[in-house]
Amino acid sequence: MHQPAITGSGVFTPSQIITNDELVVAFNAYADKFNAENAEAIAAGETEALSHSSAEFILSASGIEQRYVMEKESILNPDIMFPKLRSRQDSEPGIMAEMAMDACAKALAQAGRTAGEVDLVICAASNHERAYPAIAVEIQDLLGAGGFAFDMNVACSSATFGLQAAADMIRAGSVKCALVVNPEICSGHLEWRDRDCHFIFGDVCTATVIERAEAAKGAHFLVHSTKCATQFSNNIRNNNGYLRRSHTDMEDRRDMQFMQNGRKVFKEVLPLVVNHIQGHLTEAGASADDLKRLWLHQANKSMNDFIGRKVLGRVPEDGEQPNILQDYANTSSAGSIIAFSKFSDDLQPGDKGVICSFGAGYSVGSVLVERA
Ligand code: COA
Repeated sequence: MHQPAITGSGVFTPSQIITNDELVVAFNAYADKFNAENAEAIAAGETEALSHSSAEFILSASGIEQRYVMEKESILNPDIMFPKLRSRQDSEPGIMAEMAMDACAKALAQAGRTAGEVDLVICAASNHERAYPAIAVEIQDLLGAGGFAFDMNVACSSATFGLQAAADMIRAGSVKCALVVNPEICSGHLEWRDRDCHFIFGDVCTATVIERAEAAKGAHFLVHSTKCATQFSNNIRNNNGYLRRSHTDMEDRRDMQFMQNGRKVFKEVLPLVVNHIQGHLTEAGASADDLKRLWLHQANKSMNDFIGRKVLGRVPEDGEQPNILQDYANTSSAGSIIAFSKFSDDLQPGDKGVICSFGAGYSVGSVLVERA
C-alpha cells in the first residue's frame, strides 16, 4: 500500500465579476418587466407578481458579496437572464476542458510534475457539458497525460468524492499520479429569474494533484483518510437530463434548472455534516483539538459558522475556517478546494485539517490531511 499525498492545487478564476448590486439591478428590471407584461393576469389573481431582490438580503442571508462568471452580459440582460456561451466546433476544446487547462497547469506546477507524468484524470463536477466522450478524457488529451480518465458527478461533493477515488487508487497502486479537476459553470444551471436563489452560484475551476507521498517533490499534505456518505433527498434537485426530449411536458420548466428548499437544506444538511466530520475524526483516531483548519464547502456563511462551532466545540478563531464564498459565491464542488488552495501554505509539518464538501444527494465527503 502506498501513502497518498496532495502535492499541488490550482484555481482558475474567470475574469468577469457580478456584484450583488449589479445582480439586483438586473433582477429588479426583469421583475418590473415581467409584472408589466403580466399586469392583467396579476390583477386577476392568476399570476403572482415578482417581488424585488435586495443586496442587503443577499449579504445577510448568505455572506456572498460577488461572484465570478464566464459570461456576464447576458446574465444581466433582463431579456435573457442566462449566460450565452459561444458554441464550439467538435474540433475545438470544450469550455470545461479549457477552464481545466489553467487550473491543472497551476496544480502541476506546484507539484513540480509534468502532465506526461499523470496517469489518472478525474473530472469531478456537478454538471458536464455533454454526455460523452467524457470531459476527463478530453482534458487528458489536451494535457498530454497518460493512463486513463473518467467523469463523475456527486453535485457539490464531487471534489471530495473524486479525491477519495484517486487516493484509493494511489493506495492500491493502480495509479501513480492523479489529477482531480472540478470545472464548475454554475451560472449555466442557476435560475437567474428566481430571487430566492439568483445570488447563490458562481463559476470557477479547481484542480488537485494527488500522488504517492514518497514521490512528492516539495511541500505536501498526507491524505490520512477519506470518508464519503450519501442519503437521498429531493431538496436540492435539477430535473434536466438526457431524457428531456422523451418527456412530452419538459419545455422551459422551472425544474430544468437548480431548485432547492433552502430552509430544509439548512436544517437537514448541517447535522449530517457535523456528525460526518465527527465520525470521521473518531474513526481516524483524531479529535477536533488536533485540527488546525477546516476547509468547508462554500455555500453559506452561517452554515459554515455553525459547522465550525459544532466540530471544534468553540467559535473558530480567525483563519481556522477560511471562507471564500464572499468573493466566489457557491461554486459547487470547487468551493472547499478553493479554500484549501488559497489557505493552506502557512500550515506547519504535523498540522492537520479537514477538507469537507456537501450538497445535493444529499452527499458529504471529507478528507483528513496532515502537512508533511
Ligand atoms: N431578496 C429579498 N428577499 C428575499 C430574497 C431576495 N433575493 N430571496 C428571498 N427573500 C425573502 C423570502 O421571500 C422570504 O420572505 P418571507 O419571510 O416573507 O417569506 C425571506 O426573504 C426569507 O427567505 P428564505 O428563503 O427563508 O431565506 P433563508 O434565510 O433561508 O436564506 C438561503 C436563503 C438560500 C441563503 C439559505 O436557505 C441557504 O443558504 N440554504 C442552504 C443553501 C445550500 O447549502 N444549498 C446547497 C446548494 S449546493
